[in-house]
Amino acid sequence: MSKHSSKVIVTGGAGYIGSHTVVELVNAGYEPIIVDNFVNAEKSAIQGIETILERKVTVYEGDCADHDFMKGVIAQESDIVGLIHFAAYKAVGESVKKPLKYYRNNTDSLLTLLELMVEHNIHHIVFSSSCTVYGQPDKLPVTEESPKKPAESPYGNTKQICEEILEDCVNSEMPVNVVALRYFNPIGAHVSAQIGELPLGVPNNLVPFVTQTAAGIREKLTVFGNDYNTHDGTCLRDYIHVVDLAKAHVSALNYLGKKSEASTYNVFNIGTGTGSTVLDVINTFEDVNDIKLNYTIGPRRAGDVEKVYANVDYANTELNWKAELSLADALKDAWRWQLSLKKD
Ligand code: UFG
Repeated sequence: MSKHSSKVIVTGGAGYIGSHTVVELVNAGYEPIIVDNFVNAEKSAIQGIETILERKVTVYEGDCADHDFMKGVIAQESDIVGLIHFAAYKAVGESVKKPLKYYRNNTDSLLTLLELMVEHNIHHIVFSSSCTVYGQPDKLPVTEESPKKPAESPYGNTKQICEEILEDCVNSEMPVNVVALRYFNPIGAHVSAQIGELPLGVPNNLVPFVTQTAAGIREKLTVFGNDYNTHDGTCLRDYIHVVDLAKAHVSALNYLGKKSEASTYNVFNIGTGTGSTVLDVINTFEDVNDIKLNYTIGPRRAGDVEKVYANVDYANTELNWKAELSLADALKDAWRWQLSLKKD
């Protein structure tokens, strides 16, 4: 592989979505340069990536909000064609308790990276946004034109603010081409079970809670509410396999690489286009893994939206990307990953 013109800095490259993306980048012929401070990621993720790829990857340990540190990375590597910026705090509940931590970290890192892009003539950035920007949409499925709703949490607000920062930079004719990917609900793990999600403490998200309950780490799963306006009363989301999501980043880089304009802002929904309820997830998990899950119905969780799923036509046509793996695939892979952890 050429040492030139395929290098991409991946901030948060040891994290859940980052690690899967690093694998897909290498598979597609890119040369990922991982930058991670390992605050919410484990060194074992790097070993997992290297086992899958049967090669070493480049890793810099440090904070991507640190201008001097990042300048050193760029100087060391040269020929960086773009950046994928995953690194961010992401716990919705914690962000309500510690808003300054979230506003400082999540915006500072993006600002630093944008400054460095101008200083070093790096033109392409892919940013991790979220379907949280839509809140509870008035019309489903949501398209990229659906109105943004006031954020439910400081975390969600940082995603909105970062999108605005990027859009303002493009409007100022700063020479950057931006893709913001609005992720729906990523789940699952690499089919090899070498990398996957490593939640800190008690998981907030559904699927890690399901797999930990099945593994006996948690006593039982509580389904947060069954009186919503859905086919079985439980909330509905668009769950996307993390490997499909990872591939969307490769497509986004390819798309940016073809741009001749100097300054563009592009937003895409990245989901499957199909909604599944909490009970759909539980039933599918039980079926595909032949396990009985201990769960109970509890009250609604504050701040949950009732239902949201994506219209993915724009990503299908413009990025030439679409999700290929099913909910069943994701839940099989999530369970295989959980079992691999238990053995440690
Ligand atoms: N759920 C349960 N029990 C649990 C955990 C979750 O019933 O123990 C339910 C939730 O109520 C929700 C669904 O499972 O209906 C999915 O919940 P997650 O926490 O996995 O995902 P969310 O859709 O709430 O959160 C996701 C991202 C956040 C983002 C948010 C915004 O994880 O980063 O979408 O919509 F902010």
